Amino acid sequence: MARLNLDVNGQVHRIDADPDMPLLYALRNDLGLNNPHFGCGLAQCGACTVLVDGQPARSCVRPVAAVAGAKVVTLAGLGTPEKPHPIQKAYVEEQVPQCGYCINGWIMTAAAFLKRNNRPTDAEIREALTGLKCRCGTHMGILRAVKRASEMMG
Ligand code: FES
Ligand code: FES
Repeated sequence: MARLNLDVNGQVHRIDADPDMPLLYALRNDLGLNNPHFGCGLAQCGACTVLVDGQPARSCVRPVAAVAGAKVVTLAGLGTPEKPHPIQKAYVEEQVPQCGYCINGWIMTAAAFLKRNNRPTDAEIREALTGLKCRCGTHMGILRAVKRASEMMG
């Protein structure tokens, strides 16, 4: 066990944990942040995605000790109901979700992408979101939502 400081959504939390424990477990079990989901546990689906220093990271395979000193942002830190991030707003406007299990990964990945490129082509959006999975098949809605968010941000 080790004592670790985690900077998550702008707040520093102190936890005692096995340094090799996945960041996902610390977020969900120690901090009660349940937006990142456990899907595959193998970095294959993206449901557990968070931002680490602004970059999308699959928290199911990232040891918690590896993010000590970094700034972690989860979906709960991206926007608020009063002031949603454009991609959150666009998701609602496009009525994207079905079961909703995958949403976290798509939104966090898209938010990081749109920060780098807020006037993307359809091909760039598809490439940026490669590797994320949605078993409900909402892919066309997701593409529309990212496009809509880019128009709000552009
Ligand atoms: S649960 Fe982390 S990528 Fe699937
Ligand atoms: S909305 Fe169900 S897995 Fe994507």
